[in-house]
Amino acid sequence: MSNQPFVLKINESFILEGYSEYTETKYEKMKSFFLTVDENRSDKELIYKVYKKDVLAEPGRLLQCITIIEPGTINGQFFMTRGHNHINTSCAEIYFGIKGDGCVLMQRDDEFVCESISKNKSVYIPGGWAHRTVNVSSSDPLVFYSIWPADSGYDYEYIVSNPFSYNVFESDSNKLYSLEKN
Ligand code: PA5
Ligand code: MN
Repeated sequence: MSNQPFVLKINESFILEGYSEYTETKYEKMKSFFLTVDENRSDKELIYKVYKKDVLAEPGRLLQCITIIEPGTINGQFFMTRGHNHINTSCAEIYFGIKGDGCVLMQRDDEFVCESISKNKSVYIPGGWAHRTVNVSSSDPLVFYSIWPADSGYDYEYIVSNPFSYNVFESDSNKLYSLEKN
């Protein structure tokens, strides 16, 4: 991959035009991350999709993507991403809200922070903080843009051995969501 300038565009369907990789994450892959199982839900139901632009995984280069999390819940627990830490824990990341309402869960050892994300809002995720995004609507998708160093790597195992200490559920008060401790 040559190190040349390039331009991408987020189109009206929130597709990152010029992307190099598209991934869909379905319920079957997410089952173990939700607190409960919904026996009536198809394993093939889409939870979220990602349009990512690849560059060489070299220090100094930047990756970017669009994530679209579908609206919905598993027994009241909002749809979310799997979540991960970066293998290179010095690598930070920025999420920028495009559409919808969500929250970003961030965790490092016994520290936990939940920041809301919505259109035009930027969330800074410092290096070394595991992160997961939750769509807090059961009617509208959450769309956000991410940018992060190309040599970050993904540590998905981290989430398995260090699960997030809070889960995000529908709220019965006038709050958008409710955080429930594991
Ligand atoms: O780099 C990021 O943190 C994001 O672009 C995520 O990869 C994306 O939102 C999908 O989440 P996950 O990688 O946890 O499946
Ligand atoms: Mn990340």
